[in-house]
Amino acid sequence: MLPLLLLLLLLSTLTPATLLNLTTHLTPLPPSTPLSFLHLAGTHNTLSFPPLSHPHRHTTPFSLTHDHPLRAQLHLGIRFLDLRLHHTNNHLHPYHGPERLPISLDEVFDTLATFLVECPGETVIARIAENTSPFHRAGVVREETWVPPWRGKRLRPEKEGEEPLGGYNTRGFNATLWWHLEQRNVTEFIWTPARPRRIPTLGEVRGKIVVLQDFPGAWERGLPFWDGRLVMVQDVWRVGSIPRKLEVVRRFWVKMAREREKGEEGKLVVSFVSGSFCEGLVPPRWVAERLWEVVWGWFGGERSEPRESSEDPTFQQFHDPTSPENHDIRVKPIGMVVGDFLTAAIIRSIVRFNYEPGGPGEGLGVETGWEKWRAGGWRRDTL
Ligand SMILES: *[C@@H]1O[C@H](CO)[C@@H](O)[C@H](O)[C@H]1NC(C)=O
Ligand SMILES: *[C@@H]1O[C@H](CO)[C@@H](O)[C@H](O)[C@H]1NC(C)=O
Ligand SMILES: *[C@@H]1O[C@H](CO)[C@@H](O)[C@H](O)[C@H]1NC(C)=O
Repeated sequence: MLPLLLLLLLLSTLTPATLLNLTTHLTPLPPSTPLSFLHLAGTHNTLSFPPLSHPHRHTTPFSLTHDHPLRAQLHLGIRFLDLRLHHTNNHLHPYHGPERLPISLDEVFDTLATFLVECPGETVIARIAENTSPFHRAGVVREETWVPPWRGKRLRPEKEGEEPLGGYNTRGFNATLWWHLEQRNVTEFIWTPARPRRIPTLGEVRGKIVVLQDFPGAWERGLPFWDGRLVMVQDVWRVGSIPRKLEVVRRFWVKMAREREKGEEGKLVVSFVSGSFCEGLVPPRWVAERLWEVVWGWFGGERSEPRESSEDPTFQQFHDPTSPENHDIRVKPIGMVVGDFLTAAIIRSIVRFNYEPGGPGEGLGVETGWEKWRAGGWRRDTL
């Protein structure tokens, strides 16, 4: 008996299951998988990370939404990007609200192309949005970064007769976007949908960027973000409180899960687990920590010590896994889960569903490593 056990033990160490690698987490999945079947992690306001190459330009805590630069995000498994671009002088620049971010769109496209060449079994879904903000008047937009008043400079409107620093655009946002892609020689990375438009399979978009259009004008190379036919979005970002936002997130997933049961499988589902309240006066990190703490539990993670706020009965309602109210949500997240300050642990807690029973990668022998991670807490940020 003992030799047999030893033999079995030896065999099991000789043929270990492949451990899920976040950098290439979509690569093992069958090409016939509809994109809408995938569980993906995404970043809200993707490009609001601390500036590495421009230390003189500071992103304020009020606009900072991530710790990791774009390349690191992709390697950590992020597959949905939220790119907000401001159109001025026939150029597009990444912005967060009124603040111009210290990265150029060309760097963004170069990073994406490099990643997709390195990992051709992966895909990236990019919501590209025209940035609008009360600090910008249409067509007359300053080129410079908005500098917060406490740092000495103030944005002022042009005086009468003064030439605007920013420029007028002589073409549409869509034409300028195409121009940027051509400049970097990356148009071939942009996925072209079939006609009539439908949700592609993973095989059709491998090595490509799937553009979700959130800007005016015609755009052949992608899917409309807001039309509700192919893409369903929950982006309630003005939240009264943390429990209210959690309630919105939960209800949306429950609704989407019911639609799936009825056979509504053809839509991409995008859910923002992020928000701001007091008109952006609460830093996104504060909000994100409180949201992830609860959502991590919904995804089956073990929670660390509860915060003081969990004394609040409304808050507690979301923490209690035995509550029938919370039963539905413990099934699984649906589609793209988009938020601020995602850690590797949070990303793993989402994408592991692709390899669990009911997921497109069920039975492929990919070990998600979840059991080792679930007790480690959502703050863990190593691969
Ligand atoms: C994950 O995949 C990437 C890209 O193929 C590779 O560079 C990296 O070494 C892998 N990581 C592990 C832990 O195997
Ligand atoms: C653009 O890409 C093509 C092939 O995809 C290549 O032949 C050409 O040299 C590239 N041009 C530039 C300017 O990088
Ligand atoms: C941009 O949109 C306009 C119509 O709104 C269209 O005529 C034009 O062809 C589009 N350009 C590109 C590059 O898609």
